[in-house]
Amino acid sequence: MTYRVFLLSVLVFSMNCNTIIRTDARCVCKQWKLAFECASDWDCAWNSNTKVCEQEECSSIKNQSICSADEGCQFRDGKCENFTKCEDLKGKTINECRLMSTNCRESNGEHCLPNTLERKCDKFINEGECLQGQDGFCLWEDSKCILWSNCQQAKQKTQCQKLPQSCDWSETLKICIQKECSEIDHEYDCIAVQLEPNSHLYKVCEWNHILKQCEQSIPDALTFDTCASNTLQAYHWSSSNASEGFCEQCLSPNVQKPSPKHCLCQSIETQLDCQQNQTCTWRDGSCLEKACYQIDPPQACIQLDHCAWFANACVEFTQCENYKAFSNLECQSINKKCLLSDTLETCTSLNLECNAHKTDDKCNGSKNSKQQLCYWDEKINICQVWTQCSQQQQATYCEFSGACFWNGKCEQIQCSLLNEQSCNHYLAAPDSKQWKYCMLNGETCQDLKSENLSKEECYALSYGISTWTSSECQMCKFPDPDNFTKILTYIGMIIIAML
Ligand SMILES: *[C@@H]1O[C@H](CO)[C@@H](O)[C@H](O)[C@H]1NC(C)=O
Ligand SMILES: *[C@@H]1O[C@H](CO)[C@@H](O)[C@H](O)[C@H]1NC(C)=O
Ligand SMILES: *[C@@H]1O[C@H](CO)[C@@H](O)[C@H](O)[C@H]1NC(C)=O
Ligand SMILES: *[C@@H]1O[C@H](CO)[C@@H](O)[C@H](O)[C@H]1NC(C)=O
Ligand SMILES: *[C@@H]1O[C@H](CO)[C@@H](O)[C@H](O)[C@H]1NC(C)=O
Ligand SMILES: *[C@@H]1O[C@H](CO)[C@@H](O)[C@H](O)[C@H]1NC(C)=O
Ligand SMILES: *[C@@H]1O[C@H](CO)[C@@H](O)[C@H](O)[C@H]1NC(C)=O
Repeated sequence: MTYRVFLLSVLVFSMNCNTIIRTDARCVCKQWKLAFECASDWDCAWNSNTKVCEQEECSSIKNQSICSADEGCQFRDGKCENFTKCEDLKGKTINECRLMSTNCRESNGEHCLPNTLERKCDKFINEGECLQGQDGFCLWEDSKCILWSNCQQAKQKTQCQKLPQSCDWSETLKICIQKECSEIDHEYDCIAVQLEPNSHLYKVCEWNHILKQCEQSIPDALTFDTCASNTLQAYHWSSSNASEGFCEQCLSPNVQKPSPKHCLCQSIETQLDCQQNQTCTWRDGSCLEKACYQIDPPQACIQLDHCAWFANACVEFTQCENYKAFSNLECQSINKKCLLSDTLETCTSLNLECNAHKTDDKCNGSKNSKQQLCYWDEKINICQVWTQCSQQQQATYCEFSGACFWNGKCEQIQCSLLNEQSCNHYLAAPDSKQWKYCMLNGETCQDLKSENLSKEECYALSYGISTWTSSECQMCKFPDPDNFTKILTYIGMIIIAML
């Protein structure tokens, strides 16, 4: 158990330091500021007059594999065109459908069907179909199709090599093993490695030109030429001038996801627990909150109301209007109080009622005066309060709610549905303020029972909502949400203490 707690704290810690990145929120075309970053994203085209990276029209894409991989396009009758619906695509087999649109990996024998109707790996009965199911990449083994969850499951070299970003065939041991940056021999392969065959999480690699070897790296250390490629396009170069700027995350699910109330630094009594919150520091036997400028990863910075993550630094928050951004998610990743303003170029702290938003880009990701999220109902083109996961049609927004997860469609989270890496906490509904907590028991995720946790497990396994108090693991007492006086006084004390 202690061993797993250790591993788990390493994972939580390293996710905060961004040595492990999520690649499910890729940059969008207009975030690429360098022409070559734009050119390397096959959905996008650089407009050399305006020096802006634009979404490419489907009709100008000639290559079938590029066209069918683009969610907005479909390949039909030898042409790439705007995606309509799967039922319009005459594909008799799954493989025919896959080649027409990535949205339609299922067929009824006559035409294609949407991915929500896709079979899971264990439902495929032919080896030829056993590639990808609704649950992820599949593997053909013992005449059965199974979900591919770790590299060792692949018994043959040819199978192992189907997932070069994740697995590596060991010629000496004759087994398929998890790939590591250090085992990559060539500079052109030295990009990133996936933690498991179906994971969204990757380790970033970088070529060491002096030692001529591939090494594990962090996005902050990447240069303009490797920033986008080695993060699988989840990060971009922050400046349009390659000689200045830094490698910056486009959108971070970790940043925008709401998080429950965690133990405040001052309520933590042990050094071990204190060290695990990157906004806290242990000094003279007590746990204190750091000043904004001392906080490094954005995920930590944004936990504090009075700090803002802007231009790759944690700064004292001023007002939303002072920050430039072009989406609700981007504003939210600067400070949770901020939303996209009417100019669509800066943030604002004004919350409009959902139905006051007349366009989808102002609606998606916004919050009303009660801090409830809004969603765009495509059928009636109206912006509404989002009350149930199933109302959301978009994966990005689905996951950012804190209540839902994307599984081909947007579904309510329950502990039992979470895997080891996501087993932490969730909201009871998209518009709920009630947090539910989970913990790992062996490999399964179940509802949290703080009282069962030992001193070493208490903080880590409860994801920072419980702390060890003299003899037992207890949920922290949280200040009254409507009463900020205490917190403000406390922050004031810290600022004075810093001076
Ligand atoms: C289409 O693009 C893929 C992936 O970039 C490439 O491997 C393939 O050779 C291209 N095909 C053609 C006909 O250009
Ligand atoms: C395809 O979609 C784009 C963007 O949504 C739109 O501007 C364009 O007119 C559409 N093209 C056709 C042929 O419908
Ligand atoms: C790019 O940045 C460098 C270093 O700051 C500066 O010397 C150069 O003038 C900049 N180039 C342009 C086109 O702004
Ligand atoms: C870390 O401490 C800060 C300040 O006390 C608190 O607001 C935040 O929620 C904590 N975060 C975690 C993950 O425990
Ligand atoms: C907003 O959400 C709707 C419905 O899910 C979607 O069709 C639309 O593309 C989204 N718009 C933006 C700008 O994200
Ligand atoms: C937690 O402890 C209680 C009583 O000590 C016990 O009945 C229960 O089975 C334990 N639960 C787990 C998940 O270990
Ligand atoms: C908020 O907390 C302060 C200090 O604990 C207390 O004096 C004040 O009455 C509280 N205000 C409300 C509205 O509860």
